[in-house]
Amino acid sequence: MAENVDSKIILGIESSCDDTGAAVIRDGMLLSNVTASQAVHEQYGGVVPELASRAHQQNIVPVVDAALKQAGVEREQLSAIAFTRGPGLMGSLLVGVSFAKGMAAALRIPMIEVNHLQGHILAHFIHAEGEEFCPPEFPFLCLLVSGGNSQIIKVNAYNDMQIIGQTIDDAAGEAIDKAAKVMGLGYPGGPIIDRLARQGNPLAFQFSKPHIPGYDYSFSGLKTSFLYNLRDRVKEDPDFVEHHKEDLAASYEKAVVDTLMAKLRLAARDLKIRQVALAGGVSANTGLRNAFREHAEKYHWKIFIPKFSYTTDNAAMIAQAGYFKYQNHEFCPMEAPAYSRVTMK
Ligand code: KG4
Repeated sequence: MAENVDSKIILGIESSCDDTGAAVIRDGMLLSNVTASQAVHEQYGGVVPELASRAHQQNIVPVVDAALKQAGVEREQLSAIAFTRGPGLMGSLLVGVSFAKGMAAALRIPMIEVNHLQGHILAHFIHAEGEEFCPPEFPFLCLLVSGGNSQIIKVNAYNDMQIIGQTIDDAAGEAIDKAAKVMGLGYPGGPIIDRLARQGNPLAFQFSKPHIPGYDYSFSGLKTSFLYNLRDRVKEDPDFVEHHKEDLAASYEKAVVDTLMAKLRLAARDLKIRQVALAGGVSANTGLRNAFREHAEKYHWKIFIPKFSYTTDNAAMIAQAGYFKYQNHEFCPMEAPAYSRVTMK
């Protein structure tokens, strides 16, 4: 895109968990999206907060430099800096938030705070050259499923989102990761369960499904049912997991996906909304993506499944949310602290 003196250029920064990200958007077009992931956590079977914030400190400067360089943008050309303010790990957030504050103050440009979860939803509006661009129209429903959240959200506008239902205990991603851990499959468990499930029989085992009223979810009972089932079988056959890991993965994944889709279907029917989007890390799951496609056919939904690189934590979604807010002059003061636990703000 040719440069224009009135161009609005937003730098997005993401550091809520274990991915350090920076991205640049000019006039609504994504120019760069750089992510540094942290392999250090693999040996511990989960994200270690202290190690995550140390790695963010090492990564943030080179990641931001790379994003600006790939975009062909000088820092002096930036119009504003959008950053993930929360929710997430406090030590991780502080690195991105402090960096954004320092850079915005030095350049004398405004700062834009972004809620990480809203960022995941607004990933559907990312527009990059050479990529298909077909965003949902408002209002639409979004199933947001990640390691920390499982929510059904009615998105009325980019800045008007209503939580229709959410998990009352564990998140779907957490339940999947836990099952992988119990089976001794390694971390992160989601992609491993996904791979195994493709080779297994989803009807081989049955686990007790939750019965929660309304549009809310619960995954802790399913997790426990899996654990007890496995414990009993391993007593009879110590190699049970090794002999049945594909079927276990396929059956457990099916239980999670069926649970997610049942409430989403109910919400879509009751609210009479047929535009349905998927967001968050678990949206990479093949079984869930297939279930979305089946629902689209059966219930005439228009579905929106993000590109893989926009489903996991990334800064493109933060820059995109920031771009919307910039147009509405929604800036935040320098004092704005990071927040770890607010789900939607
Ligand atoms: O949104 P996200 O990248 O990060 C946070 O929650 O912060 O989501 C990560 C979650 C993890 O639980 C991971 O195991 C899960 O997404 N995940 C998957 C797959 N890829 C990632 N779960 C199932 N199937 C996958 N292919």
